[in-house]
Amino acid sequence: MRILFICSEYEGLIKTGGLADACRGLASSLLAEGHQVSVILPRYGGLYQIETEHEQSVFVELGGRAFGCAIGRTEVAGVTVYLLEHHDFFARARPYDDGQQGYPDNPLRFAFFCKAVLQWCTVQQPFDVLHGHDWQTAPAAYYLTEYYRQHASLAKTPLLFTVHNGAYQQQCEPFWAAQLDLPLYHSSVNFLQLGLQYATKVNTVSKGYRDELLSEPAANGLASCYQQRQADFSGILNGCDYQLWDPATDSALPANYHAGDLTGKALCKNKLQQDYQLAVSDVPLLVAVSRVTGQKGYDILIPALKQLLSNYPVQVLIVGSGEAHYCQQLHQLTVMFPDKFRFIEGFNEPLSHQVEAAGDFFLMPSLFEPCGLNQLYSLRYGTLPLVRLTGGLKDTVVPWPDSQATGIGFTEPTAAALLAALRQALALYQKPAAYRQVQQNAMAQSFSWVEASIQYLALYRQAQLAL
Ligand code: ADP
Ligand code: GLC
Repeated sequence: MRILFICSEYEGLIKTGGLADACRGLASSLLAEGHQVSVILPRYGGLYQIETEHEQSVFVELGGRAFGCAIGRTEVAGVTVYLLEHHDFFARARPYDDGQQGYPDNPLRFAFFCKAVLQWCTVQQPFDVLHGHDWQTAPAAYYLTEYYRQHASLAKTPLLFTVHNGAYQQQCEPFWAAQLDLPLYHSSVNFLQLGLQYATKVNTVSKGYRDELLSEPAANGLASCYQQRQADFSGILNGCDYQLWDPATDSALPANYHAGDLTGKALCKNKLQQDYQLAVSDVPLLVAVSRVTGQKGYDILIPALKQLLSNYPVQVLIVGSGEAHYCQQLHQLTVMFPDKFRFIEGFNEPLSHQVEAAGDFFLMPSLFEPCGLNQLYSLRYGTLPLVRLTGGLKDTVVPWPDSQATGIGFTEPTAAALLAALRQALALYQKPAAYRQVQQNAMAQSFSWVEASIQYLALYRQAQLAL
């Protein structure tokens, strides 16, 4: 099949979270199965040093104004990647915000991106399916339906829209409707809603989250939209790219290891302890790597950690960047517990691998989690995920003391429930044989993209038939 991904992140080029990993993982897997996958994304400030070829110019009209861009081609691990260049809109270091706030022109930037991609499609060899990811690409579903069906190359092209995170909707003031040629939904323009209403098929990234989105509050006000598409709305669990995330071959690690020999894992722990001036010892090391946002459970994690660090011999190390008020509280914890706690603020990919390998437990107390990739990496790295049993976390982690356990789980979104789970983790760690068994179960899990891509291909075919 000839498939075009329309997306705003791609691992290896630009990444703020799991969206980048998921787009690359699925594209690579489809390519390996012999499909012709192309990806198109904006050329952000950091992507100007990449050489591109076959530049094409594209012009579109939005709200009566004309805009132009250049689209050039490159390749990432065999996948054809098109970079859409519009200097004023996209040549910025960060894709969506300045570090504090979303860019005020985000509606224009991404509506333009969507329309320009469709315009460019009219002069390409037809794609069999377009696949849009998250709110940044949702207007493409509307523009395709309303403006581009008369073009021969798009007349019979379905669009699959994947919701990676239903909390990010890009809801904006009504004046944007006229500027972007988009319709109003309950007196505002809601990008995500356009994807839900106008895409040929809609899916999200786990079955658990799919079911949650059918009602409030998980749907963030759009439950009726998901319900209206219920028959066309499915859940496909993300995979894990084991080419990039395998402790046996990971070149970012100070030592490699596998389930049969965990010596290297102990070395990774010691090295991280040394690097961050924590005592090199066998106390349980709890780690996290995440966007520092409400979604990731920081409102319950910070108070629970205060209790834990006050009362137990543990080490906790968190790598992340995001909302300033949480970051400040995390820095305070470092001051309060200088021997036990580290917060490394920033986005650091090699460190994210080293932390995955070094930890004894990986913390993901998310309030909601569409899929979650870090728990999948943690399983493979033998770093037991401690998760709130929601969305994709519930679908992928079996909580101790189940005989098949792969991690620790809790349900209530409270600091008390999280603290109880943290205590459970420490209790498990005190039983080396039981801990090893759970670790072996975890490392034996396989969430391959091959399985996911088979399901996506079936969905692409259903979408073709639905037109
Ligand atoms: P989400 O997409 O909601 O952020 P996921 O678990 O699906 O959550 O994916 C997060 C991805 O982003 C993982 O690959 C994780 O390692 C990476 N990541 C998050 N924060 C950081 C950071 N501060 N430094 C490096 N990588 C990070
Ligand atoms: C989103 C979700 C995360 C998911 C990722 C990739 O960012 O928050 O749960 O794993 O997308 O689909």
